[in-house]
Amino acid sequence: MSSDRVRPTFSAPQPPGAAGGAGGAAPAATAGSWPRLGRLDGVCALVTGAREGLGLATARALGERGARVLLGGRSAARLEPVVASLRAEGVDASSFAADVSVASELDAAFAAAAEAGDVPRILVNNVGVRDRRGVDTLDTAAFSALLGTDLVAAYDVTRRFLAAHGERPGGAIVTISSIAAVRGRAGDVGYAAAKAGLEGMTRSLASELGPRGYRVNAVAPGSIATESNAELMVDPRFSEVVRTRTALERWGRPEEIAAAVAFLASGEASYITGHTLVVDGGLSTLF
Ligand SMILES: NC(=O)c1ccc[n+]([C@@H]2O[C@H](COP(=O)([O-])OP(=O)(O)OC[C@H]3O[C@@H](n4cnc5c(N)ncnc54)[C@H](OP(=O)(O)O)[C@@H]3O)[C@@H](O)[C@H]2O)c1
Repeated sequence: MSSDRVRPTFSAPQPPGAAGGAGGAAPAATAGSWPRLGRLDGVCALVTGAREGLGLATARALGERGARVLLGGRSAARLEPVVASLRAEGVDASSFAADVSVASELDAAFAAAAEAGDVPRILVNNVGVRDRRGVDTLDTAAFSALLGTDLVAAYDVTRRFLAAHGERPGGAIVTISSIAAVRGRAGDVGYAAAKAGLEGMTRSLASELGPRGYRVNAVAPGSIATESNAELMVDPRFSEVVRTRTALERWGRPEEIAAAVAFLASGEASYITGHTLVVDGGLSTLF
């Protein structure tokens, strides 16, 4: 199925003064000239790291809004049952198997998608791994490897996403950061550095790509109840920290992050770019 034919939410750059173009005010919308707010029908979305956790919740949220979703992960076999279960829910889903830190795998996955007629117009840079070691034990090679997967790979995927558009630019990029980008924590130095880098990258790409019809934003989750936090969630001390240090006194749910990503990816956020939306139940606002 080709998902590049209908692009209701995005359009190539307009001349100055036109809706979405550079300069001047957008003209008043005429009846039927705007997509239905929040819908993503006919738009193809690539979500990296979508086999479980926030990526899977995001793929589901985008799919429920009508997008065709490509689910990223390192293994086609592991993605298969996840794709099947989303399809059973009525989501138009396929797998996008590639390790984001391996250029040749990304090339092959983008080529396979193009072959199938899929040109993503929404990119969710979601892959983010952790190495909870401090400066004395996280050696430079390990620090660099972590940045390679969490920061450099997002840049690499973004470049390929843009290149796939050729002479027809336009789309939305949402990158998953963390409150670790702006708050410090002992034993998390590599992850925090990568997330801070992603937020800087988001702002600069927004400036650079806005004139070409792209919006670039980030979402910074707090403590979310995902598989990757399974051990912390059964640790009563950590759950007490979450309860007492969030205004909402609880862990966040994956779909609460997914809703923020879907909003930023959709036409509802048509004038928002270069922004990091913190979704943390108030964790970073208390002291
Ligand atoms: N969970 C939270 O509380 C929280 C809080 C703040 C920020 N975040 C951020 O949110 C994002 C998602 O977190 P999560 O906890 O939902 O993720 P996760 O469960 O740790 O990872 C999601 C998927 O990413 C895939 N993946 C890992 N390395 C990959 C690679 N090199 N190439 C391609 N795919 C890869 C894995 O699938 P395969 O094994 O099949 O490859 C994994 O199932 C991350 O960026 C994380 O830093 C999470």
